[in-house]
Amino acid sequence: MPLFPVYKTWNINAVKARGCTITDDKGREYLDLYGGHAVISIGHSHPVYVKTLSEQLQRIGFYSNAIVNPLQERLAEALTRISEYPGYALFLCNSGAEANENALKLASFRNGRNRVLAFKRSFHGRTSGAVALTDNPSICSPFNANHHVDFIDLDDFAALEQAFTQNQYAAVIVEGIQGVGGIREPSAAFLQKIRALCTVHDTVLILDEIQSGYGRTGKFFAHRHAGIRADIVTMAKGMGNGFPVGGLLIAPEFKAVQGQLGTTFGGNYLACTAALAVLQVIEEEDLMSNAARMGSLIKNEIGHFSEGISEYRGRGLMIGLELRPEHPASATLREDLLMKGQIFTGAAGTHIIRLLPPLCLTEQEAETFIKFFKQCYISHR
Ligand SMILES: Cc1ncc(COP(=O)(O)O)c(C=O)c1O
Repeated sequence: MPLFPVYKTWNINAVKARGCTITDDKGREYLDLYGGHAVISIGHSHPVYVKTLSEQLQRIGFYSNAIVNPLQERLAEALTRISEYPGYALFLCNSGAEANENALKLASFRNGRNRVLAFKRSFHGRTSGAVALTDNPSICSPFNANHHVDFIDLDDFAALEQAFTQNQYAAVIVEGIQGVGGIREPSAAFLQKIRALCTVHDTVLILDEIQSGYGRTGKFFAHRHAGIRADIVTMAKGMGNGFPVGGLLIAPEFKAVQGQLGTTFGGNYLACTAALAVLQVIEEEDLMSNAARMGSLIKNEIGHFSEGISEYRGRGLMIGLELRPEHPASATLREDLLMKGQIFTGAAGTHIIRLLPPLCLTEQEAETFIKFFKQCYISHR
């Protein structure tokens, strides 16, 4: 039986990985500046992660949410400490899209409305509601397209005001920093305006921190740079460092109704153990500060490299490099980085390189990238 070929894949067979290094079946080593799409937060196969997950597996791997699970409570406590969201409750699920679906459901149950305001270039996942909020008609089937969603540009204050004048929204959903859309950050003033309007209109503010969260930008959540708090924060990706786990932080105003939300696998022992190991390592190794520091280093070195880059976007280790399309090296840069430099990076559209490395990236690893990146452009002079 063939695989259903929906992914564009490189012909690389990874057989082991450690920190920011991936090794293939031929023994070739690659520098991972993509983290498997922002998933690898604390580094591949971190010893604390491997040890605690292996030990947990020896004890018990799974039982359902029909019995208490003290690991879920430990995770909620650790998240309260690190996330700057005191008083919020935690609901655990398995992926980013599922976290957003549950957030939409909670919002709609709370105020009885069904219309959502989202943003152009957004990506919120591929399930029914999440894909309807995603600004990409090519992945939204007619079945998904029946939701009531409006899209406006980030930082368009007038459109925002007008949308709130014309509609009663169940929720506004916004990424802390847009990832798939090309690493685009809403301004602090815009996020503050959304917050204020949501409060006045009893609209639920959902911050999608699935890609931008978990310390990647130097703060635990990217929107905290704007000093606001959401009503619901959605998380996944870096949360489990590769183990599938997602979650929602839910404001105290939401009252839980038994049976209204649920999942078979969400919050299982292994998922909680992975998520706890991630938080432990982020704190013990001060990975948020490292993300901020390594981000500044890369920005200082190539942010002004105007020969090849027209814009440097992002914060910390969530970086978007808008390449100049007219430069001869731009078209093949990502492939050259991988095939000649053995460096994994991501893309967004045709001319944006996305860097989402593990947060444990070292100075030496950052320098390796900077050197090769410059070489790619200089050799094309
Ligand atoms: C901002 C954002 N939200 C939601 C998702 C969906 O997450 P998942 O693929 O885990 O469903 C993604 C995935 O790329 C994302 O970047």
